[in-house]
This record gives sequence, structure tokens and C-alpha cells, in this order.
Amino acid sequence: MLKLAIVFGTRPEAIKMAPLVKACQGVAQWETRVIITGQHREMVDQVLEIFSLKADYDLNIMSHGQTLNDIARRTLGGMAGIFREWRPDLVLVHGDTSTAFAAALASFHERIPVGHVEAGLRTPSVQNPFPEEANRRLIDVLATWYFAPTERAAQNLLREGVDPERIFVTGNTVIDAVLSVVEEGYQFTTPELQRLDFSRPTIVVTAHRRENWGEPLVGICQALLEISARSSAQILVAMHKNPDIQAVMKGLLGSDPKITLVDAPGYKEFANLLARCTLLLTDSGGLQEEAPALHKPVLVMREVTERPEALEAGTVRLVGSRPESIVQAVLELLSDGELYERMSSAPNPYGDGTAAQRICAILQEKYK
Ligand code: UD1
Repeated sequence: MLKLAIVFGTRPEAIKMAPLVKACQGVAQWETRVIITGQHREMVDQVLEIFSLKADYDLNIMSHGQTLNDIARRTLGGMAGIFREWRPDLVLVHGDTSTAFAAALASFHERIPVGHVEAGLRTPSVQNPFPEEANRRLIDVLATWYFAPTERAAQNLLREGVDPERIFVTGNTVIDAVLSVVEEGYQFTTPELQRLDFSRPTIVVTAHRRENWGEPLVGICQALLEISARSSAQILVAMHKNPDIQAVMKGLLGSDPKITLVDAPGYKEFANLLARCTLLLTDSGGLQEEAPALHKPVLVMREVTERPEALEAGTVRLVGSRPESIVQAVLELLSDGELYERMSSAPNPYGDGTAAQRICAILQEKYK
């Protein structure tokens, strides 16, 4: 009997762990419990509902204006309490958030093995993205099992001296998640999404990263205003719950009739929006994996990416956060049919939607 803890705290982790929770809860001999830190509140609750999951423990740590140290401190303390009450044999964490790092450290302190899902992503600088690059490297120092989404991620781990017997290339569970919620005749429930006219070019935008807070976010908004003025596209901005980001976006974009601002839609709504849009403009990491699975070009408003596979495959282009380069890249993609075709038909390097089953099967083999 394996006592398995699956931990997450933010929306992307919840989406990417949901297929794995389902797979592991399907193993009758295991006791699989879900621990959420609550680093994100509403945004994670929405995901739990869509995938019909329930948290066995909820640390409920979120506060507005939380610092990285607040998140880490509260997660460490909360996890210690859970480990005292229920001692799992294995803790699974995901990716690169402060939740994932603090939960991995708490497990390590308790000498409970850690499995890292989406292990091995790297950029050249520990400072960028901040603090995610540090988080994922630190987790990989502490982990016992490494579930690398791609061969390249596995190579990164090997280069750092990780034991090859502990590394498994599985694909990314986000593909499992996105394919499970996109439906052909889907009807939107959000009024702003119902009003979109998909016979027009449609640009979906998200921006939330800490590197882009402040001046870069203002530049991104200026770029959107210019794109709106110079093209026939409708622009849908899905706003992160962070109140500081919302204030900037509403202030600068609120009065442009071709730009619609909408509060972070639920995952099913958002995935179906992605499936119907023309292109995606984002600073997110996970969207660089989901959009290629739906054959949508992605322009990434960052200087570096830890996901070079989609860049090489040709679905993703890095455009930085300077307004001129964002505007130029979007207008080019809207007007050059051949470029559009090339980017949208590139192969998806992140797997076939069976990553969660693979990870579960590997654990069954290791813990039989
Ligand atoms: C976190 C992750 C980032 C991930 C992102 C996805 C870290 C260090 N960063 O960053 O890697 O890409 O989540 O969203 O772990 N808020 C709400 N309700 C919610 C969610 C957020 O009100 O449901 C507000 C709160 O005011 C909170 C703020 O958003 O203080 C920022 O959230 P936080 O988790 O600190 O940082 P993110 O930028 O979301």
C-alpha cells in the first residue's frame, strides 16, 4: 500500500496535476491524497471543480500582496503539520512554483522521497524567469524521481549528474489535460466569450509574469492598442487575478472597443477559446505547450524560454516585451498566410496525452 501525496497550489500546477491525480486515484491499492497550499484561491478552486477533484488538505495560505517568502514560509509550516498527522511514502510536486519548491523542501526535511513532475526544464540564467528557474533547479537537487516531459529535459538532468535510473521521459501532462476539455460544439458560458466573432482574426492575450510587472506590462498594453488600431483583429485579454496587473490593464485598455478584458476564465472556457482563436500572445510557460497541441501559433513576450522544443518545432516565437517587436510579429503573422500555416502546422513536441498514465505506471513498477 503506497501512501501518495500530490501537492499543488497555483492554477497551472492544478491543471497539470489533475490527470495524474485521476490516474493515481484509480490504483486501488494506493492511498492517494491531494494537498493544496492555496497559493492561488479562486483560480485553483475553478480547476478542482472542472476536473471533479477534491482537496484532502488545504493550507489556504493565499494573501493579497503575498511575497515569495510568505508563500514559502507558510507552505513549509503547513506541510510539516500534515506530515506529522499523515506520513506519506512519496510526495509528488510539479514544475517551478514557490509551492512546489517549499513542499519539496518540507518533504526532504522529513526524509520523504519527492517525485518531480515536469523536471529538467532549464534556461541559462537562474535569475530568469524569476523565481521559477531557481525553484525548478532546487527541486531537482532534492528529488528522488524525475518525470521529464521531453528528451531534452532528461538530457539537462543527466548533464547535472542525476542518476539515469531515476529519470523517465513521459511527455507533459498538460496535453492530457487540454485534450480532455476541448469539445467541438462547445458553448461558452462567459458573456464576453459568447460575444466573440470567430470569423474575424482573434488574438488571445495573457500576461502575468513577475519579469513583466511594471514598465514591460505597460509596453505590452501599448502594443495591444497599436495592433487594435492597425488590424481587423478582435483582441481578448484574459486577465490574471493579480489586482496590480488588472489595474494596469483596465486603466490602459478598458476603453478600446476592439479589446475585450475578461477575468481569468475557467480552464474549460479558456481551452476552448484557444482551440478557436487565430493566435496567442503570452508570457506564460504552460501555454507554450498547450497551444501547439491545438495547432495555434504562439508569440511569447519573454526574452528567454525554458521550452525550446516548441521554438525549434516552429510553433513558438520569442518576441520579447518591447512594444515595437510585439506589434511587428503580430501584424506579420496576421498578414503572411504562409508563415501562419507553417507555425500552426508544426508538430507538437510535448506528447500524446498519455503522460499521466505513464507516470502512474512507472510508480506502480517502483512501488509494487
Ligand atoms: C505564480 C507562480 C508562477 C505561475 C503563476 C500562474 C510562483 C513564484 N509563481 O505566480 O510561476 O506562472 O502563479 O498563475 O510560484 N490572486 C488571487 N486569486 C487567485 C490567484 C492569485 O487573488 O486565485 C492574486 C493574489 O493577490 C496574489 C497575486 O494574485 O497575491 C499573485 O499570486 P502569486 O501566486 O504570488 O504569484 P503569481 O504571479 O500568480
